[in-house]
Amino acid sequence: GLALSCAAWAQGYPTKAITLVVPFAAGGPTDVVARTLGAAMTKTLGQSVIVENKTGAGGTIAAAYTARANPDGYTFLIHHNGMATAPVLYRKLNYKPLSDFEYVSQVIDVPMTLVGRKDLPAKDFKELMAYAKANSDKINLAHAGLGAVSHLCGVLLRQAMGVSMTTVPYQGTGPAMNALLAGQVDLLCDQTTSTTPHIKAGSIKLYGVTTASRLKTLPDTPTLAEQGLKDFQVVVWHGIYAPKGTPKEAVDKFGAALKTALKDPVVVQRLAELGAIVPSDAKLTPAGLQTWLQQETARYEPVIKAAGQFAD
Ligand code: MLT
Repeated sequence: GLALSCAAWAQGYPTKAITLVVPFAAGGPTDVVARTLGAAMTKTLGQSVIVENKTGAGGTIAAAYTARANPDGYTFLIHHNGMATAPVLYRKLNYKPLSDFEYVSQVIDVPMTLVGRKDLPAKDFKELMAYAKANSDKINLAHAGLGAVSHLCGVLLRQAMGVSMTTVPYQGTGPAMNALLAGQVDLLCDQTTSTTPHIKAGSIKLYGVTTASRLKTLPDTPTLAEQGLKDFQVVVWHGIYAPKGTPKEAVDKFGAALKTALKDPVVVQRLAELGAIVPSDAKLTPAGLQTWLQQETARYEPVIKAAGQFAD
């Protein structure tokens, strides 16, 4: 019967490589998290977890692609806050974040940092504020498109600083970081999973962290809130999604492998060095992701409407 064939299917799963779709460019923060976890999950699942970078439109192309993919247990998506912000940012979004997916698990929380090109004249945030005000016509901020957290952070930052800046879009903060390292853009708000090695190497300037309190990995760096941007806080959270109708057995098995990977000492140490935080066990469940996505969608709606930035 059906139950038996489902059980037999589940026992064999996975019998081939699984695709993990990443909505942004290779070498960027989402890609770093996906590849770190994918490598560890490959060991548990006995089949490769292959990262596929499907870039464009601030992550919405990858989400739409996943919503329409075969729900056979061989396509998953990792996405961040962009899953909650896209419905307000995009008037014609062609998928429904709150109903077109199976929700697997939350994954990892990542703080952001405000960084600048190495030769930017401002040496700290106070000087940056003065410099940005005096040069608002020429200072620019790189980001990864509407729906990217680098873009969201930039919107909130310009609002809080009271300065306008030119923005420069990329297909991910991987390429945006390369532009910053090459001195082609001035500022970038990016995740610690991407910025930490460059900060430690001294190849970029660091102006502050976006969390409510200081980070263990960058203890001497003040938060932006401490430096005058009252209540400024952006934390990146991630979720794993599958196309709606993906068998529960596949969702459960992928979720269990993810949980094992998040407890693997090598993975834990690597992610901790990059400033990332493993969420509580309650969040590492389908309900943990679904409820959070609903809350975040409601929370961001007025924020984005107030900022008044939309795409068609
Ligand atoms: C990336 O992986 O490039 C980032 O997550 C993009 C972003 O949202 O800023």
